[in-house]
Amino acid sequence: MKTPYSITRHKSFATAMLLTLLIASLPANGFGQTVKEFFKVNCTSCHKLGGGRLIGPDLKNVLERKDRAWLTEFIMNPKAKIDAGDEYALKLQKEANGIIMITVPIDRKRAEELLDLIEAESKLETSEFAGTTAPLIPFTDSDVAHGVELFTGATRLKSGAPPCLSCHSTNGSGAAMGGNLGPNLTQVSERLMGREALTAWLSAPPTATMQSVFKPHPLETDEIHALVALFDKTAKSAPESGGIVLWMGVIFYGLGGTLVVLMAFGGFWSGRFRAVRRPMVNSAKLKSTKNKTGKLGGKS
Ligand code: HEC
Ligand code: HEC
Repeated sequence: MKTPYSITRHKSFATAMLLTLLIASLPANGFGQTVKEFFKVNCTSCHKLGGGRLIGPDLKNVLERKDRAWLTEFIMNPKAKIDAGDEYALKLQKEANGIIMITVPIDRKRAEELLDLIEAESKLETSEFAGTTAPLIPFTDSDVAHGVELFTGATRLKSGAPPCLSCHSTNGSGAAMGGNLGPNLTQVSERLMGREALTAWLSAPPTATMQSVFKPHPLETDEIHALVALFDKTAKSAPESGGIVLWMGVIFYGLGGTLVVLMAFGGFWSGRFRAVRRPMVNSAKLKSTKNKTGKLGGKS
């Protein structure tokens, strides 16, 4: 029996949709990506080649410091080496403020190719991955103010990505303000080893959620500059004043814009948010009830 025309059309439409979805959901180390592109997307937010330390060590001539077999295994599963108590890995971790290199899902072949690339680039006088050597211009108050606007959503990110505030908090007058899906960012500039490292991190965020949001909608250079200015300020200021900068931002120009943006993204994110937040909200409620009981008990 012949399938009616319209159904066939629906079927091929469905197949096309499925294929599109499949292609869109391919992992970041997708097929057909050259090793250079792969390195750029997955490694340069933490490593430079010849330009000094970022979050991780400078990778120039790393093969002269450590043998290839060890490095291959380390790149494939950094945490395993650290968990196993490997002395060299522990020393690297200590030098990186305790940060453990993220595990990028790759096979042995890709790890070998990455080391080949690092070896070849190390031989060049200046690798394209040496990073910027431009002198760092001091941040201005207007940079910080722009950072607040972007963080809160008062000014929309050019790519249309949701504002940081929907998932992150920074400390406001001692209390955390903002979303809870991501970590509190008050001290992030120190944690991620300063202005340059944080800039690199934000231009290609290596972690799962951040990558899923910002890889298709990258932050622009001037936006990163302003956000890093803000985090530089919150890390340096006393917790209260960092918070006040943000609270003022929210009160004066944040709230309206944030609500609009949150509503616009509501449809897209709500399923996820609810799923994540409900247990969080419940546990927060439990905690605060416990605290109250505790306080009352203490006073009496
Ligand atoms: C989130 C930051 C981050 C990302 C992304 C990252 N690394 Fe690392 N890398 C580190 C840190 C930090 C260390 C030091 C060891 C530790 O603390 O885990 C390290 C160590 C290394 C080392 C050993 C360096 C030495 O001096 O012996 C190599 C090689 C390396 N990384 C390669 C890579 C490659 C290749 C990629 C991309 C696939 C990558 N890294 C992505 C943070 C990162
Ligand atoms: C949809 C939620 C979401 C949005 C929006 C979001 N983040 Fe994140 N962010 C996360 C989560 C979750 C993490 C934890 C790591 C991960 O899973 O990616 C994170 C981690 C980070 C980290 C690393 C923190 C650390 O201590 O390691 C930085 C920096 C960061 N985000 C900055 C930003 C900035 C700046 C914005 C706004 C431009 C932003 N994020 C918007 C969810 C989000």
